[in-house]
Amino acid sequence: MALRKLVAGNWKMNGSIAALAELDAIAAAAKANGNIDVAICPPFTLIAPAVARTPELTIGAQDCHAAAKGAHTGCISAAMLVEAGATLAIVGHSERRADQHETDAEVQAKAAAAIAAGMRAIVCVGETEAERDAGRAVAVVEGQLDGSIPRDGTGVTLVVAYEPVWAIGTGRTPSVGDVAEMHAAIRAKLGALLGAEGAKVRILYGGSVKPDNAKELLSVADVDGALVGGASLTAAQFVPIIEGGA
Ligand code: G3H
Repeated sequence: MALRKLVAGNWKMNGSIAALAELDAIAAAAKANGNIDVAICPPFTLIAPAVARTPELTIGAQDCHAAAKGAHTGCISAAMLVEAGATLAIVGHSERRADQHETDAEVQAKAAAAIAAGMRAIVCVGETEAERDAGRAVAVVEGQLDGSIPRDGTGVTLVVAYEPVWAIGTGRTPSVGDVAEMHAAIRAKLGALLGAEGAKVRILYGGSVKPDNAKELLSVADVDGALVGGASLTAAQFVPIIEGGA
């Protein structure tokens, strides 16, 4: 089943008020390519200014806390993100799994919190290079899905992003065959976890998506979009990626 594609940009810890000027051309490209969804996830402090600047563009967050409120210094709740104007949240990015030691159970709770607050959750999974070299890539990702996917997720509330850790920010990507194999495995696993709804959950590819490889990656079976890091920071790079998915 062909799903409507989603091309989402993750600005990570980059950007500024001045950098929001990039959103003008990105929003225009989103409008011009209305057959796909486009989103930008800037740092928390830029969410409300981004929404104010381009209200027509979907703006998301890069994380949220699992709890609704409380003594969690430096954290942010899903409801706070919704109030700022976010309509989706990335959870379980490999940088957070590594730097903040987030577990699958925590990622699952964050995804559930995002969904309960009315956002769409993008749950990230992906193997390290050592795990791939050991022939364990599919098993690792299946295990992450087992632990991280809220069982009431639907094609509306849930998105999965497959991001091989070794491809993030390196300029390296898996072969088209390896991407196809992994996305087929993720699709099968989602079916096992969510039943018929699993066929409706979009599976994004992430890791060194650039203007020159976007079209090829986005045409692989069961690649329903892209999660883009570095190349989402400028309209000059991100717009051709949007066009590659349209
Ligand atoms: O969330 C985005 C990914 O980590 C990909 O980052 O496009 O800079 O490799 P990248």
